Amino acid sequence: MYHLRQTELLTPEGQDQYFSTIIAKQFEEQRPHQILFSFLHQNQCIGYGGLVHIDWEKATAEVSFIMATELEKNQFETNWSLYLKLIEEVAFESLHFVRINTYAYDLRPHLYPILIKAGFIEEQRLKNHILIDGNMKDVLIHGKHNTAIAFRKADAEDESRTYSWASNPSVRKYSFQKNEISPIEHREWFQKKITDSDCLYLLLIAEKGICGSIRFDKINPHTVLLSFLIDPTEQGKGYGTIIVQEGQLLVNRYLDDVHTIQAEVMHSNEASHYIFRKLDYEISESDKEKTTYVKKINS
Ligand SMILES: CC(C)(COP(=O)(O)OP(=O)(O)OC[C@H]1O[C@@H](n2cnc3c(N)ncnc32)[C@H](O)[C@@H]1OP(=O)(O)O)[C@@H](O)C(=O)NCCC(=O)NCCS
Repeated sequence: MYHLRQTELLTPEGQDQYFSTIIAKQFEEQRPHQILFSFLHQNQCIGYGGLVHIDWEKATAEVSFIMATELEKNQFETNWSLYLKLIEEVAFESLHFVRINTYAYDLRPHLYPILIKAGFIEEQRLKNHILIDGNMKDVLIHGKHNTAIAFRKADAEDESRTYSWASNPSVRKYSFQKNEISPIEHREWFQKKITDSDCLYLLLIAEKGICGSIRFDKINPHTVLLSFLIDPTEQGKGYGTIIVQEGQLLVNRYLDDVHTIQAEVMHSNEASHYIFRKLDYEISESDKEKTTYVKKINS
């Protein structure tokens, strides 16, 4: 009961009801609040857990896990360690989440060393946060970041890489400017962009190195125009989504007072439409050539 932060004993009926009304319907949802798994050993379910309190916007989730009580005595560390490895694959490699965390009442001293060994760090201790059996207990939050994903600002050394992207037919296809770009033209444009204080030009670094770019150009004091692309050899792996999802969170760290992000997408650019819809951008305009999406952000 204390693991599950539950105050009442569960009953089979109550559990069935919970499963059918809360859990089962999430199987069909695009962005469920939780994704749960059975944890099997030789085809026997010996535990369950998953990602809960998922925040798709921030790409974060809490990790939950319980194992069959009789295994806790001798297999606590083995099962927890294996489970963390598996759930990290789901969270970081498949879903590209940026951070996962655990949230545990300070009643589980055996768990913390296992988390630390798995690369989690103790991020927060909420002092006297919960009353358990008449005593106030702390809550401990351990977190782990997805080190496979990072951003850095584009600099002069990225000129040829960005030129090869810009001149690639699969990128040009969805560019509003169709004429061929010469290396000299690109150099001038690129130098201007990386030195312009009204432009934030970031590169996404993932498992295989730099795999895409995202740019925010101020078009008025409170609005930026977003442009992005993924290296043609790395497309279709979810990086298009992650670069917008994560990049948009960095805008106000580097540019001042941005309230709105705007993006223009050609009608035929299905993947981009999909990404902006998925990330809750709204359509503000549509003409013969393109759809304009906008999103309000916190400054
Ligand atoms: C647009 C672009 C950045 C997408 O990058 P990506 O890494 O392939 O994107 P993702 O892998 O995150 O795919 C995004 C979603 O679109 C879906 N998608 C991809 N191609 C699609 C298509 N032709 N039709 C419908 N959906 C499509 C994917 O299935 C994915 O959905 P999922 O998250 O449910 O799996 C990439 O195609 C690109 O660089 N294009 C050229 C430049 C460009 O168009 N930039 C944007 C200008 S607005």
